[in-house]
Amino acid sequence: MFEKYIKTEQEDKIIEEDKIAEEDKIIEEDKIIEEDKIIEEKIVDTIKEIAEIDKEEIEVIKKVYDFPIPEYLLPWKNDDTLLIEYTSRLVNAGYDNIDLIASATVGEMVKKTGINEFLIKELIGNALQWSAFNFKTASSLYSSRSLLKKIPTMCNSLDKILNGGVEPRAITEFYGEFITGKTQICLQLAISATLPKELGGLDAKAIYIDTEGSFNPERLVQILSRWDIEPDRILDKIIVGRAFTSDIQIAMVDNMLEIIKEKDTKLLIIDSLTSNFRSEYMGKEAIYDRQQKLNKHIQQLSRIADIHDIAVVITNQVMSDMDQTNNVKPIGGNILAHGSTHRIECSKSQLKSSVRFAKIVASSSLPDAKASFEITKHGIEDV
Ligand code: GTP
Ligand code: MG
Repeated sequence: MFEKYIKTEQEDKIIEEDKIAEEDKIIEEDKIIEEDKIIEEKIVDTIKEIAEIDKEEIEVIKKVYDFPIPEYLLPWKNDDTLLIEYTSRLVNAGYDNIDLIASATVGEMVKKTGINEFLIKELIGNALQWSAFNFKTASSLYSSRSLLKKIPTMCNSLDKILNGGVEPRAITEFYGEFITGKTQICLQLAISATLPKELGGLDAKAIYIDTEGSFNPERLVQILSRWDIEPDRILDKIIVGRAFTSDIQIAMVDNMLEIIKEKDTKLLIIDSLTSNFRSEYMGKEAIYDRQQKLNKHIQQLSRIADIHDIAVVITNQVMSDMDQTNNVKPIGGNILAHGSTHRIECSKSQLKSSVRFAKIVASSSLPDAKASFEITKHGIEDV
């Protein structure tokens, strides 16, 4: 009996030990399962990370792959790493067009891409050899230009002297004294560029750089009441930037490539081109600096017009001209006189307060002519 008791005790001990071992095993297994879970989670995270990196890399490679400039023009074509890195930098900086690279300045490209000057010079040189800036036959130029649609002012008399409207690949300048209708013309052009085709517009986008705070959306909506259209449909297509200084104005133009490409822009308005320059550079000693800066700005506008088939419209103020018989002349001197493709002088009728005149005074293709128009609640209209 005693033996049996001992045996039972031993058995109990074994059972107890087995139980403990079993529990330990379970704990151990749980630990392993827990560790496995952690490892598994880590693997999933890593896979996710890799997938993310791959996604980014794929995006970069895609950009490079879609890059419209032939690889043999890229000075870094033989270096696989640079091919992706530098080419994506070009794309990200907006240089995905051979004409654009050909017409870029070395300094501007170095600044925007961070690629060294030596390589950029070579790239611009290569692009120049291949770009549209090479010689072309007059007939190919003629046919490519004839495909471009002018933007009508939607005022018949004005459209008649403009031969249909403001021209793409050109700078049209409206200058004149205050309240002669320059801003009203700009607003109506912005509407015309953005109106749907069935209403006579170009169904495109317009960029409006307002330097005087005269862009007034309420006035735009008022003019829009002329057409049966929801104003938001038009307002959403006019991108407005307020340029308080000439530096902001220049930066807006220099950095608008992305907007232009993405947004199907057909019209760029600067109302007015000169007021910031005029107020910041006063006095005779500042004239040289002002003109230099203005010159670069106009050249940039001209490039944008040419490369992106955009109609650039600028307004300009006047000053009294002591030496000549006509008593006002536009600001900007020869720089602007040479920079504008078409110059139109706006003036006010002495007889009827709502009537204005627009006169072609200098143009490479439009004959001298004069139109009268009226400023009404509907914008600018024939008299
Ligand atoms: P500055 O920018 O000062 O050099 O003048 P501007 O040439 O740009 O003049 P703007 O195009 O702003 O035209 C101003 C003229 O348009 C003024 O004579 C206003 O009376 C007129 N105008 C503006 N809004 C309306 C309107 O809602 N109805 C009517 N009938 N006329 C308007
Ligand atoms: Mg104005």
